[in-house]
Amino acid sequence: MENFIHYNPTKILFGKDVVDDICQEISPYGKRALLIIGKGSVKQNGIYARVISLMNICGLEHYTFEGIQSNPTFQDADAAVKLAKEKQVDMIVALGGGSVIDTAKAVAAGFYVEHSVWDFYLRKASTPKKALPIIAILTLAATGSEMNSATVLQDSENGIKTAILNDLLYPKVSFLDPKLTASVPLNYTAYGVVDLIAHALEQFFGKGNAPLTDHYTADIIKLAMNYGRKVMVQPEDYDTRAQIMWLATNALNGTLSAGKSPGDWGVHHIEHTLSVLYDIPHGAGLSIVYPAWLKIQLPKIKEKLAFLAKHVFEFSSIDDEALGLDFITALEAFFKEMNSPISLTEAGINIKEKQRILNNLAQNKVSGMVYPLTEKDHQEIVEEMF
Ligand code: NZQ
Ligand code: ZN
Repeated sequence: MENFIHYNPTKILFGKDVVDDICQEISPYGKRALLIIGKGSVKQNGIYARVISLMNICGLEHYTFEGIQSNPTFQDADAAVKLAKEKQVDMIVALGGGSVIDTAKAVAAGFYVEHSVWDFYLRKASTPKKALPIIAILTLAATGSEMNSATVLQDSENGIKTAILNDLLYPKVSFLDPKLTASVPLNYTAYGVVDLIAHALEQFFGKGNAPLTDHYTADIIKLAMNYGRKVMVQPEDYDTRAQIMWLATNALNGTLSAGKSPGDWGVHHIEHTLSVLYDIPHGAGLSIVYPAWLKIQLPKIKEKLAFLAKHVFEFSSIDDEALGLDFITALEAFFKEMNSPISLTEAGINIKEKQRILNNLAQNKVSGMVYPLTEKDHQEIVEEMF
């Protein structure tokens, strides 16, 4: 078992209409808030108007920065920092999915410095020493950003998508109302389920013997598959949305890395190349990369995959390699069932793009923490993804 620190300071309010408690929960953090939102879904489904009206009732001064794109950019974060400084806000409120929350985290740290937030991500500046309080109102179950310290941004022009983690970036409070996810379209709902499964897998491939964590991981994957199938046929069902929301939060809030070191994260690293080059949704990229990565790594991870084959799918055999292959086939079949792409071709990316992908993987030194990736691995994985 690897040494670990288990720390998570985020207060979670989970359930129907929890946002109604916003005044009571956020007033300790000040009187002026910058609200960050995406490209309009929160206006269409009414939650934006509801939050604004609650903030007005409690006398909280508020400003809105609108238009954060999925696969968010550092330029938008810098522009939001400018507004936060102009208005001298006391807190950042993120109303949206992972892209909005990740931007809010960058803005919270950027508020206290004079350089671009991107310098944190490129490690050109020292890690954030101060950050404004972050409040998250989650509208899409996927990333776990609502209860973790990570933020991922990109520089589209230079083909770089990368993350930072910092204890100051845990949201102080996160509101998780599953009702807010009912309007998420089926494709993004599916990508969210894929993302949460990918988070469980990335940490599972960490070093260290941690049976409790491994069993917890297998259960999270199994439940995500069960509820993922359900949500595709009953997208309005509250209980199904609720289960998926809590599964996604737990898949990346520290619990699944206890005793496993931080995990491998090679698949996420490869997926960031796909997001930054082709702007494909994060989960859609993961359902393409994971099967390819697993096939390439099979000889090194067959015992681990055999465990998952037994505990997620209840397969049985004495041959670990056969079980490993069965796991990969079943995982791929699940992604297909969710209509999440399992090949680059399916995602509309032409085979002629192969070299461009390889160049980006090389430029960003894409690798994994436990299973390092060589140039030959890059080639095999890219080949496999088409
Ligand atoms: O922009 P709007 O109009 O809000 O629409 C969004 C967006 O188009 C829409 N949406 C969100 N909530 C909705 C809704 N549509 C209808 N009803 C609702 N209730 O969904 C689309 C996708 O939103 P986005 O926030 O981009 O999705 P997600 O939550 O999957 O976040 C993806 C980003 O998070 C990063 C990814 O790399 C990607 O950039 N990640 C962050 C992590 C973290 N901080 O821990 C870990 C992850 O591995 C991941 O890398
Ligand atoms: Zn992810």
